[in-house]
Amino acid sequence: MNILETISQRRSVRSFSSTIMDRREMESVRGILERAASEPGPFGARIRCKLHVDTVGSGEARLGTYGLISGASAFVLPILAPAPGAMEDLGWVVEKAVIDLWAAGWASCWIGGVFSRTKAAGLAGASGEEYVPIVIALGKEAERRSFMDKLIARASRSRQRRALAELCFLPDGSALNGDALASPWNIVLEALRVAPSASNKQPWRLVWDPLALRWMLFLDEDRFYNNSLGNTHLQNIDMGIAMYHFAAAAGCAGLKGSWTPLVEREGFFAEAGGEGVKSMIDMGRKKGWEPIAMWR
Ligand SMILES: Cc1cc2nc3c(=O)[nH]c(=O)nc-3n(C[C@H](O)[C@H](O)[C@H](O)COP(=O)(O)O)c2cc1C
Repeated sequence: MNILETISQRRSVRSFSSTIMDRREMESVRGILERAASEPGPFGARIRCKLHVDTVGSGEARLGTYGLISGASAFVLPILAPAPGAMEDLGWVVEKAVIDLWAAGWASCWIGGVFSRTKAAGLAGASGEEYVPIVIALGKEAERRSFMDKLIARASRSRQRRALAELCFLPDGSALNGDALASPWNIVLEALRVAPSASNKQPWRLVWDPLALRWMLFLDEDRFYNNSLGNTHLQNIDMGIAMYHFAAAAGCAGLKGSWTPLVEREGFFAEAGGEGVKSMIDMGRKKGWEPIAMWR
């Protein structure tokens, strides 16, 4: 299975078989987590990922996800310290792990809403300023889905995604007609479109600059939703996940490029590509979007 197939097949699983991971499986999962976290994301923040396996009781009870997730005894606990772009980098690193884990036969679900952050930080051994913004429930998919699983999947319309025309725009703010793009880009945009996002809100917006052949990525933030969990900003995590899908698919499609964080500092726009970049950012801001990164 190549990475594009894995990206399109991955989905959130909330009902797990109760079989507990054995030692060899733990080693293999830890290897995948280490590889994913071995390099920082595009913003340069370091993320550590700890595997927590509850060999005695129920992991859900310990982490307070009971009811939402059924049968999971394993969780991935990503640990970070506050830094600019750390949420995006967490999304990037953890989604890389989620995709590689799916390819290795492990199902998972991102959990950013209801779980005990205090317990997760304790189990992860977070120290000082470090914290655990989200956890990943991990395991083998159960043969039968729990009632809660079906309910949540239905409520978040988990299989549904916005049309590309609602996500992609031109520098003048008009919708981008996907047919206008050369075909490898369609593969990349499709990989981004199927990315998981908190409550399936899909807050990613892209602007294509056809002259300079670059993409600008914005966050269409739900301000209340994204700022109601203290220093955890789920929609910034969504952006990092989408950036990973985009970059992985571009690599697969043979399209060269990388993400540059869009931070406003003296001289930045000149370095990043001058007035063209600035006017695209102004256009995005007029629509109420926050600039995140540029691909070129
Ligand atoms: C940052 C983040 C946080 C999430 N938090 C939760 C959560 O707390 N509970 C839950 O059931 N699903 C959660 N999800 C899963 C989303 O609901 C799911 O990805 C979305 O509905 C799309 O469905 P899919 O993953 O099956 O494609 C989260 C996803 C992300 C990316």
